[in-house]
Amino acid sequence: MTLEFLDLSKTFSGEMEGESVHTLDHIEYRVENGRFVTIIGPSGCGKTTLLRIIAGLEKASAGKVLLDGKEMVQGSEEVGMVFQEYALFPWRTTLQNIEMGLEIRGISREKRRLTAMEYVKNFDLAGFENRYPRELSGGMKQRVAIARTLIMNPRIVLMDEPFGSLDSQTRNAMQEFLLKIWQKRGDTIIFVTHNVDEAVFLSDEIVVLSRRPARMIKRIEVELSRPRDRTSEECNKIRRDVLKILEEEMKREG
Ligand SMILES: Nc1ncnc2c1ncn2[C@@H]1O[C@H](COP(=O)(O)OP(=O)(O)OP(=O)(O)O)[C@@H](O)[C@H]1O
Ligand SMILES: [Mg+2]
Repeated sequence: MTLEFLDLSKTFSGEMEGESVHTLDHIEYRVENGRFVTIIGPSGCGKTTLLRIIAGLEKASAGKVLLDGKEMVQGSEEVGMVFQEYALFPWRTTLQNIEMGLEIRGISREKRRLTAMEYVKNFDLAGFENRYPRELSGGMKQRVAIARTLIMNPRIVLMDEPFGSLDSQTRNAMQEFLLKIWQKRGDTIIFVTHNVDEAVFLSDEIVVLSRRPARMIKRIEVELSRPRDRTSEECNKIRRDVLKILEEEMKREG
């Protein structure tokens, strides 16, 4: 499933006069089916807003989002979003969190239990299916959050800094886990991060956004085979390139 942004812009109109926030500025992009695309850009530039527009949680002020050439309908089942860890329901167990979407879709209790248990197994959560989020480690919570989105079988998976609150070892392990799942499923992933190392390790392509209002300033192909060695000279070179673009953007006047 291809995803296209056609001249996408977003301005939030302020509550009070004269306080509108111009957030996205003429974004044009095309993501081919099955790609792992990372979006990186200065804090507050509009990354979350872009994901929310793709997910249909926010309306663009101008321009369009196309899925396979057709304008996206709000609440499309083709798109799933992974928020940060706090999006788990604290009063629901691992299993109940994972099967929640199926419940909303009206799948029978027996069938959704069966499917959710598959996810529990494949996401290394066996033995924790009846625990509550507060009883899980950060990495586990994040796996529940990802499982809960993927069980709905979206073709486009949006991830908003999903590993931002994890320590670096857990983060690295989660990156490897995510790649394994993605390689098996073949979905398209749009992944937002602040972390250049993470972007280089994970992606097929990296999109660098400008400061607000976010424009696309660079698209970088990461043509390295997987599994990647994050300490390799090739990874370091791309990391340096991305960092340089970001630094120059921060120094830019205006
Ligand atoms: N609902 C809203 N109403 C008004 N302004 C908003 C709204 N949502 C976001 N904004 C503004 O839009 C801009 C971009 O916000 P967004 O959350 O998309 O940035 P971001 O790139 O995800 O930032 P971060 O890297 O810190 O997560 C910010 O200035 C923010 O204040
Ligand atoms: Mg954000």
